[in-house]
Order: sequence, then C-alpha cells, then structure tokens
Amino acid sequence: MNLDLVYRQAVLSVAGNPRVEALIKGRARGLVRRYVAGETLEEALGVAEALEAQGVHAILALLGEMVRSEAEARAFQAGILELVRAVASRPWPKYVSLKLTQLGLDLSEDLALELMRGILREAEPRGVFVRLDMEDSPRVEATLRLYKALREEGFSQVGVVLQSYLYRTEKDLLDLLPYRPNLRLVKGAYREPKEVAFPDKRLIDAEYLHLGKLALKEGLYVAFATHDPRIIAELKRYTEAMGIPRSRFEFQFLYGVRPEEQRRLAREGYTVRAYVPYGRDWYPYLTRRIAERPENLLLVLRSLVSG
Ligand code: FDA
Repeated sequence: MNLDLVYRQAVLSVAGNPRVEALIKGRARGLVRRYVAGETLEEALGVAEALEAQGVHAILALLGEMVRSEAEARAFQAGILELVRAVASRPWPKYVSLKLTQLGLDLSEDLALELMRGILREAEPRGVFVRLDMEDSPRVEATLRLYKALREEGFSQVGVVLQSYLYRTEKDLLDLLPYRPNLRLVKGAYREPKEVAFPDKRLIDAEYLHLGKLALKEGLYVAFATHDPRIIAELKRYTEAMGIPRSRFEFQFLYGVRPEEQRRLAREGYTVRAYVPYGRDWYPYLTRRIAERPENLLLVLRSLVSG
C-alpha cells in the first residue's frame, strides 16, 4: 500500500476515537469553515447564491449519516424535504445530494426506500435532481439495489455514484447500463480493506480514467467528481478528441477545494458544480477531508500547539 493510502487509513481509523473526536471538534473551526457552508439552510443558500454569481452551480447536502433510529431517519427526511422546497423556489439549477444511511438504510432497506419515495415525489415535479452519495463498501450493494428499485418505479430525477477504488465497480457500471444512470464518478473516500479496494493510488487513478471513458463510450451522462488536475486535463483532452459534447458530462468539486479551478472551468464553458454541505453533523465529513489531505491534519495540530 503506498503512503497516501496508509495516511488515509490511519486518519479514518483514529477518527472514531471519542478523544480524537473531542480534540478535532474543539480545534478544527477554521477547517470546518473552509469545507462546510454553515449549520443552517439559510447559510448554505447564501453560499450557493455566491457560487452562482461565479458561474458555479451548487449541490446542496444536509450533513448526516449512519442514523441509529427511525425517528432520526424521519427527522432527516423532513430536513431534506425542507431543502428540496427551498431550492425549488430559487432560479438556479436545482440539485441536492443525500446519503441512504441518513434515511435509515442500516435499520431497514424498506424504511430508506419509503423515505426516498417521499423525497422524490416532492423533488421530481419541482425539477429537483437528487443524487444518492455512495458510502462504504458494506453499503454499496444495498445502495445500488435501492437506486434500481427507484428507477424501476419510474423515478427519473435520481442519480447514483460509483467509486474507482473498488474492484467491483466495473461490473457495477455494466450492470447499471440498462438503467441509463446519471452517474457521478469518484475515487472513493472511505477506509477499505485491500480485499475490496485497490491498495495503490496509481491504480485507483488509472481505474478512474478507465471507468470514466467507458461510461462516456456507453453514452451515459457523467459527473466527474475529482479535483485531480491530471485527470481533469485528460478528460478534457479525451472528450475533445472523441467529439463528445460538453452537454454529456460535467465536473464536480467539493466546496472549498480549488475554487479558482472551479471558476476557470466554468469560464471555459464546462458545467461545474460544487458540493455544498451544511448542518450540525459535520464531523464524519470533515474527517474524510482531513484523510484526503495531510496539510489539513497539520492545520489541526498547529492549532493545538498555538493553543
Ligand atoms: P486526490 O485525492 O488524488 O486529490 C487530487 C488533488 O486534489 C490533491 O493533490 C489536492 O490538490 C486536491 N484535493 C483533494 N482532496 C482535497 C481536500 N480535501 N482538500 C484540499 N484539496 C484536495 N466519495 C465517496 O466515497 N462517495 C461519494 O458519494 C462522494 N461524493 C463526492 C462528491 C463530490 C462533488 C466530490 C468532489 C467528491 C466526492 N467524494 C465522494 C470524495 C472522493 O471520493 C474523493 O475522496 C475526493 O474527491 C478526493 O479525491 P480526488 O479525486 O480529488 O483526488
């Protein structure tokens, strides 16, 4: 396993320790501000409006995952419905993201499916697109099953995510083809054992390009969610060489990451979206961002030293 991945696995494995959690929560305010739009919907809408003014569209996401009770899952559904109605009333592209474990996937697939139907019944007539984020490998099968069930029920404004670090992903992509998914492709942000995920960053990057090109060749609409400059450059070159129009794909970034590149791509005429998370449950999201970038851990450690 190369060093990037060793670092990532180490951060994600200590992040669950309550003492580490208390430490990061107390010391990471600056990082939270960089990556999270705020704790309230109003703050997130303010950020989305500012992005729009720069030609970047927002993907709004109410933070929350791995709920442990039906009441919590229903409360998150209520929050997401409030978000759907709020974005529906704005003039900009209407797009939200959520996690199925936020809607009780770990408690019961039926519950998550029922809550998803409720969200899509509100979202679809209002023209709001709903992306199902992909979580860690034990949840992939159930997430894909729910996505397919929703499509079979006739919902269309719903999209799925695939992760290039998993060995299984090419097969998942081929299995999804009959559903003509609107696909978001990512490298993958969770701690995964080498039995299920490539243990080498170069292989994950190569697989990303392989899967992205395969999805485009198969005629899918693809959202390339990566900040990786080499991958973005290669996708720009490839789509141009193959005559694939810009209406067939887009680039997605996380709020707070490479904002100047987001604006530059938008100016060049590409569709660019930024994932704008908000809410009180920011800790797991932030730990994944620290795991992606050693400099972020240094910022937390520095704030410890400076008191
Ligand atoms: P990589 O990690 O190789 O980084 C390339 C370069 O980007 C770095 O050198 C650095 O310059 C910059 N960079 C990357 N991460 C950064 C950070 N946190 N802060 C500052 N700079 C950074 N994952 C998942 O498992 N399920 C999901 O549903 C999603 N959804 C999702 C949506 C969107 C819009 C994005 C952009 C990403 C996700 N991800 C995700 C996260 C994804 O799997 C991955 O962990 C991150 O995008 C980081 O990987 P990169 O592809 O950017 O490459």
